[in-house]
Amino acid sequence: MGLAGLLAFFFSATAPTFSHDVAPLLYKGCVSCHREGGVAPFPLDSYPSAAKRAGLIATVTGKRYMPPWLPSEPRFQHELRLSLAEIALLRQWATAGAPQGNPKVTPPAPTFATGWQLGKPDLEVRMPTAFDVPADGPDLYQCFVIPEPAAGNHWVRALDIEPGNTKVVHHVILFQDTSRTARKRDTGAGYPCFGTPGFLPARGLGGWTPGALPFQMPAGIPELFHGTGDLVLQIHYHPIGKPETDRTRLALYFTEQAPQRRMLDVPLGSNRIDIPPGNAAYKVTDHFTIPVDVDALGIIPHAHYICKSIYAYAVLPDGTRRTLLRIPDWNFNWQQQYRFGVPIRLPEDTSVEMEFTYDNSATNPRNPNQPPKRISWGPGTTDEMAGLHLEVVPVRSEDTDELSQALWGKMMRSLGGGIYRPGR
Ligand code: HEC
Repeated sequence: MGLAGLLAFFFSATAPTFSHDVAPLLYKGCVSCHREGGVAPFPLDSYPSAAKRAGLIATVTGKRYMPPWLPSEPRFQHELRLSLAEIALLRQWATAGAPQGNPKVTPPAPTFATGWQLGKPDLEVRMPTAFDVPADGPDLYQCFVIPEPAAGNHWVRALDIEPGNTKVVHHVILFQDTSRTARKRDTGAGYPCFGTPGFLPARGLGGWTPGALPFQMPAGIPELFHGTGDLVLQIHYHPIGKPETDRTRLALYFTEQAPQRRMLDVPLGSNRIDIPPGNAAYKVTDHFTIPVDVDALGIIPHAHYICKSIYAYAVLPDGTRRTLLRIPDWNFNWQQQYRFGVPIRLPEDTSVEMEFTYDNSATNPRNPNQPPKRISWGPGTTDEMAGLHLEVVPVRSEDTDELSQALWGKMMRSLGGGIYRPGR
């Protein structure tokens, strides 16, 4: 055996194999989407399907393009993120020529439950009619209204969404509308609603992204579902080259137990956005000083296509800085709500700050205008937004009023100061 042969032998003897090393990793991190009937374009649940793409798998995981998980910090629940060791393993496997190993030790591929994972729901509803997704064209954002599905008020502890057609449903966000705006806009087949559903307050109840688990409210903090509210499903559809239909269903789980704590939403953001063409690093910032001790439970960012990076942090009274969210490469297609791995305690007088950066240059492949045009605030696909919601619970429930008043004050200041001029 020559040196090359020896090396090859050495590599194949020590290289990771599909059966022993790669399959468990793909089953854990990829096949929730990469399977028959999943949202991804091809399955990765067998040796042949993974082996022929070994090089591509190494590349996209190395760039952290896959699995799609935007935050680099901090740690969140249900993270879809590979460790550096896992990324290295996939690279070694590809370099060694994607060896299969002993098929007998391949673990069984996971099966995906049909039906509701949390059991029989208290309320099950579905889109009033099926929606036709055309074969081609741009992605569609369509809202569907389910008028007053619940008799009386309820506390929602969990919800689950079952897309009617995972080939075309990219993600779903659920809202409740007590303003009756959505039902007036409904054409019978929903209404187009890129970005926001078009009514206020538009607080998301939860959502579905590919591979996600049922959405559970934090323990002891169910969400109020208004008996007079309409449910609004905002669905992002991605045409796949042939016509498809979708009729998505959802399940709500109620609890008798009223909330023991109250969660408040600290909204940061700005509608003063005016980005000149060619500007590759336009910044939008905002901040708010929290007047009482709180625990931050979750965070929800929102921006459109040309947003490049998102950074949110807390400056504690002693000057320490804690990252609340860092997204180095924002992608509108993968927006979701994030729940911190463990709640983050923010003492009284902590300042929470956000910094969103936008790239309106021609070199940004996600720029909807080529050549670039001036982009300002607005709800359309070629407008931009900058919003961040921090979900917090006061440590002492008697501090809740003080915090809501401070938040109210912030809202009034931003309405007065940030004069929004339509058409600008
Ligand atoms: C949440 C769903 C989801 C998960 C989880 C996921 N993928 Fe994907 N993947 C997609 C979708 C959707 C596409 C096609 C669209 C795109 O490229 O953005 C894709 C595309 C790919 C591609 C093709 C990229 C290209 O440039 O053609 C590869 C390779 C890939 N995924 C590998 C993986 C691997 C390996 C994992 C696990 C470590 C993984 N994916 C996890 C949804 C997912």
